[in-house]
Parts: sequence; structure tokens; C-alpha cells
Amino acid sequence: MTASEGEVRRRADRLRTEIRRHDHLYHVENRPEISDGAYDRLFRELSAIEEAFPHLVTPDSPTQRVGADPLSELPVVRHVAAMLSLDSSEAAEDARRFDERVRKAVDGPVEYLAEPKLDGSSLELVYVNGVLDRAVTRGNGREGEGVTENARTIPSVPLRLRLAEQPATLDPSNGDPSESADTLPIPSLLAVRGEVLMYLSSFEELNRSRVEAGLEPYANPRNASAGALRQLDSRITRTRPLEFFAYDILHVEWRDDSRPGGDPGAGAAFDTNTGAAFETDEQAAEALQGWGLRLPDRTRKVADIDEAIAYHAEFARDREDLDYEIDGVVLKLNALAPRDALGSTSHHPRWAFAFKFAPRQEVTRLERITVQVGRTGKLTPLALLRPVEVGGVTVSRASLHNREELERRDVREGDLVRIQRAGDVIPQVVERVEEPGRARSDPFRMPDECPRCGAAVVEEGPFVVCSNRLGCPAQLERGIEHFVSRGGLDIEGLGSETVALLVGEGLVREPADLFDLTPDDLLKLDGFAETRSRKLVEAIQSAKKTELARFVYGLGIPEVGATVARVLAVEFRDLAILREAAAERLEEVEGIGPIMSEKITRFFNDDARAASVDAVLSKGFELIPPPEQESRALDGKSFVFTGRLDSITRSEAKRRVESLGGRVVSSVSAATGYLVLGGRPGSKAKKAEELGVPVLEEQAFLRLLGE
Ligand code: IVH
Repeated sequence: MTASEGEVRRRADRLRTEIRRHDHLYHVENRPEISDGAYDRLFRELSAIEEAFPHLVTPDSPTQRVGADPLSELPVVRHVAAMLSLDSSEAAEDARRFDERVRKAVDGPVEYLAEPKLDGSSLELVYVNGVLDRAVTRGNGREGEGVTENARTIPSVPLRLRLAEQPATLDPSNGDPSESADTLPIPSLLAVRGEVLMYLSSFEELNRSRVEAGLEPYANPRNASAGALRQLDSRITRTRPLEFFAYDILHVEWRDDSRPGGDPGAGAAFDTNTGAAFETDEQAAEALQGWGLRLPDRTRKVADIDEAIAYHAEFARDREDLDYEIDGVVLKLNALAPRDALGSTSHHPRWAFAFKFAPRQEVTRLERITVQVGRTGKLTPLALLRPVEVGGVTVSRASLHNREELERRDVREGDLVRIQRAGDVIPQVVERVEEPGRARSDPFRMPDECPRCGAAVVEEGPFVVCSNRLGCPAQLERGIEHFVSRGGLDIEGLGSETVALLVGEGLVREPADLFDLTPDDLLKLDGFAETRSRKLVEAIQSAKKTELARFVYGLGIPEVGATVARVLAVEFRDLAILREAAAERLEEVEGIGPIMSEKITRFFNDDARAASVDAVLSKGFELIPPPEQESRALDGKSFVFTGRLDSITRSEAKRRVESLGGRVVSSVSAATGYLVLGGRPGSKAKKAEELGVPVLEEQAFLRLLGE
């Protein structure tokens, strides 16, 4: 017995509506109602129907976010309306001058909508009868590149608009609040402008994996997102964590019978510009939100330029807390009618102004280049800089990544360099600043020998690696530091200085030696009195009873971070079984691909590594497998981070929260589950308090993760 095609079609429609609703709740509103598993089931059911009945597939189906074949080039597409730039300055006087010009042109009080100036790339989305028709980059402002297939892969870009609740303010004649639940009709044509960007935490993670794979890291999140948006193959774009925020209606048209507020009467220009349909930018923003688009966080209506300047100052302080880059605040005249009178130059509208922040770039002298040896023997050139303050933080070192990077940038000792800092990201050398007439030193050459142990180096792609692996003290030190770190055995009192002492004094020649240390051994070391020696030995001994996941993480297998270690522990439950697992078996595990499985098997099959692990285990370890029922302890809870965490990076924290079913969002709302408080918290803490959102200090947060 088969269901009639009519029934199947109705089921598919129901599923699409339901999935779209959950997509919106998850990606735009940050408050999912169902678990990932339940969502996957809906999605799979729809995919199965569409596979069996291909003619039932609709272009705006949630299943259709990827699929198109790669393009040979991006088409040139004309914008619905010109995408202008913004007048901008870092100076408050310029913001005041802008305000004066506006006030001259407008009768009565002047309000602005103030919002963050997002540092990504501008994108136009065009919806025809509510369905995403095309997406176009800014280009020269008149025409840009058609990147429709790529935009479709961005989860916060709706493939179809929702019916919006009509803002109560839209039609003043509609005084009865019971009637204000009207829905705002779907326009026949809507061109929305917004920004595509990448969260800093996602960017860090992307760059880490690129460097690991021997690829050039992106200079900043903006370049990374712009590059992803302009891919020819949307399947590549889909793997890049892009976000979309809408901030302007470029153009809107309604069919005559569906325009908001009913028949406008003869002559009303409802079909030509935004101003005729909305009175204020605030209403336009509400409409965008209602249609399912995500707006920038913390947009605020300000009553005058003083309030706008205060908003700018507040945001400049909070900038450090955000998980995305902003380079200023945008002020927009809230009333739409006077905008026409103010008009535009060929470059920018006169009704908007970008009040920028001082850039987080500085120029300083590169005093020396040194080489660091990492846990896996990788030699990393490091720039030692004349200390300089960049956006409130003193920077004295910057990574130069690898040999190829160094050559590409041609920076040498003694050069003047421009450096930049983006959020939590390690400071980077952007470029050399030319100094005509100044003699330069010779190009820096990566050493032929390991600077720590003198062993020969080998080249692996763009990397130079010390060949001495288990014999190199630098690799040993880094390896032990990792083994005993917070995510690993978590041995208190065993920081990098102590590790260096132990290795330097010859007390520890391999990780297993740690467990033979006696208080008497330690007493010989600088700074170790009786109590400290005894405590450290106790801490080392008690660390032998530990979670399997911590032990696996601590081994320092390339590519295996805390999350993967936990996944492996859940799957294998026993170190001996994990060590024997073949690559094919590892690849069956969710989240483990061929590259990772190869690294894992290579690690365990290496005789020297195996001997080192055996030696450690021979000291009497008890490795506790994870609880049988994998915990979804944080199911549906959202987390916001503020300030710097000491013992875990933001991206690691995010992964851990997600692995327990929680989500990480960037701004505090009443729906936020927890605010996690690091050092130097900003205004988010205050907001959380106002909204009654529970606040967790770092240690409490780690306990919640089951640390
Ligand atoms: S409004 C013409 N609002 O800044 C007015 N622009 O430097 C339309 N930008 O190309 C733009 N955040 O890509 C507006 N909240 C925001 C913005 C924003 C970022 C970008 C936009 C523009 C650039 C100008």
C-alpha cells in the first residue's frame, strides 16, 4: 500500500515548513526548540521523500542549500539599487559635523539608529515573491558578482521569507492593539543589504587547521569570509563557517493588493522605495527581522549625537568581548522621508555616517627573529618586536607561521613592520613598512639544525621539523606540558618552568619518569622547598587515576584535541582497543575523517611512541571510561562568553559546549542559558545581571562541562 502522491506532497510541505521554522529558531533567534537529533530526523525524512519523488523538490527546500556544480567563473550581476559606501571618520568632530548637516535638512528632532559596523563583506540578497532569487557581492556598487549558490549555503540566509508580524507602529491608523497582529505581506521584490562575516572563534579554528595542513593562513576573518563567498564551488563555501547579518532594505515592491496598510490611494509610490512603505528605519529593521533575517546585535535608537557618541565609546570598550570584528558604529537617520531630500554623493548617502574605531594595527620594529620548537618538532619562526600597544594590549611577539610565510612577506630582522591583532587571535605581522634608504639585514634563514638539540631538520611541505622527535628536549618539554595541562592529566604545580627545570636537570628524560619523582629529587631544584616538593609528587601520583579522555588528549596525537579525545573515549572505552583500531574502524566514528584516522594510527603504530606510552602505563594508571550514557547535559542551553578564559581557548570551550548539546551565541538576551565570565569582562556581565541570566565564573563553567 502506498500513500497517494497528494499525501506525500503535503507531508513534504509540512516538513519544509517545520524545518524552516527550526532553522530560523536555531540560526537567527539562537533559541532552538528541538535537539539536533530530532532535527536530523525531520531533515532525513524530507530528503528521503525528495529522493523518491524528485519532481516534488522545490528550489527553496531546506535540502537545496548545496548541490549546484562548480562554476567556471562568477557572473556579473546588476544591483537592484546602487550599493553605496559610507562616509566615515574616527573623529567625533566629524560625527558632529555630519549631525549638523542632517539637522539643517530636517525639521524637528533628529533620531538615529546606531548599529555596529560589521567588518566583513557586503552582500545584496534579492527575494522575488519571497524566494531567494540571487545574491550579489558589492563589486563596484552598480554591479557585483553573482554568488547565489554560495549564499544559499549560509544558514542564516533564509531561502524563503517568513510572513512577518506587522510592527504595531507601521500603520498609525491601526490603533487597536488587537489588530496589530496582522502579518506584513511578503513583498513581490525585496533587495536586502547585509554583511557576510566569520566569527572569530570559527576563524581561529579554520586557520589552525589550514596551518596544520600546510596551507597559508588567512590574514583576518574578513579575507577568509570574502574568499569563501567568492568560491566557484559552493561545496567549498559550505564548509566555511559564514554568518549573514541584514542592515538595510535597498528596495522593496509589493503587488498592489498586498501592500501594507491597505490601499494607499492614488499616487502613493509604494513600488519605488522603502520610504513609502515604512516611516522609519526602525520599522524597516523590524520588518526584516519579521521576514526571518538576522539583524546586527545591539542596534539602538539614539535621540541625538551625544548619545550616539556615548554608544560609540561603549562599543569601543566592548569590542574585545565580541566574537566578530567591528570597525566602528554606523549612524543612520531614523526617519526615512528626509533621506530623499538629503540625497547621496556618488560615493555615500548623506543620511548615514560610519563613526570608526581606531584600527588595531600598529607599526613597530622587528628586533629579532627566533625559532620555537613545537610539540611535534615543528620549527616556527617568531618575531620579537619592540613592545607596542595595539588596541589596549601590549604586543611583543608575533608568529611568522612557517618558512614560506616568512619568504612571502620578506620580513627581516631590523625591519619596520605593521602588526595587527584580531580578537583572541595571535598577533600577526601584516607587512613590512618600506624605509627608503635604510640598509636591511640579510633574509632570515631557517636553521639546518634544531635550535634546541642540534639534530638535523627535515622539510615537510612548508614546515621545517626537528628529526629528533623523542630525543629533543624542546619536544619533550612541550609534550609533557601538554600531557599535564588542564585538558590532560591536569597536574597542579607543573607548569612550563618546572617542566623545563626537570628536563634541564636530567630528572625527566621521558614522560614516564615524572611518576618516579620523589620529594628528595625535587628538593634539589631551584625554588623547591619541602612542602612544594611533597605536594607536587602527591599531585603527580594522584593524576594516575584519570579519565580515559584526558589521557588520550594528553598523548598529544596530532589533530586530536579535547573533543576528539572524548569522542574516541566514548567510542572505544579502553585504551588498548583504541591503540589497536584500524584506520577504517576509526573512520566509522562520527567526526573522524581519513586525515585524522591516519594521524591516529600513525601515532599508535610508531614503535618509539608506543614504548613511551607503555612506559607511562607501567607506572600504574587507572583510566576511567566515560559514563555509559553519553551526556547531553547542556541540551538546548545557550552560552555567551565574555572576557578571556585562562585555561581553555574560546574555540575549545565552544566545541565542548556543543559536544554536550549546548550552543554558543554572541550576545546576551533573556533567552541566554549562561554567561561565562572571563578576565576583563565588558558590558555583557551587566546586561546578564539585568536580565537575570545566570553568570558562571570560569571554574564553575569547567565543572559544568564535567571537568
Ligand atoms: S549601512 C549606504 N550598516 O560598511 C548605507 N553598512 O564602509 C548602507 N557595513 O559597504 C550601508 N556594517 O558593507 C551599513 N551596520 C551597517 C554596516 C555597514 C558594515 C559596511 C557596508 C559598507 C561599508 C562601508
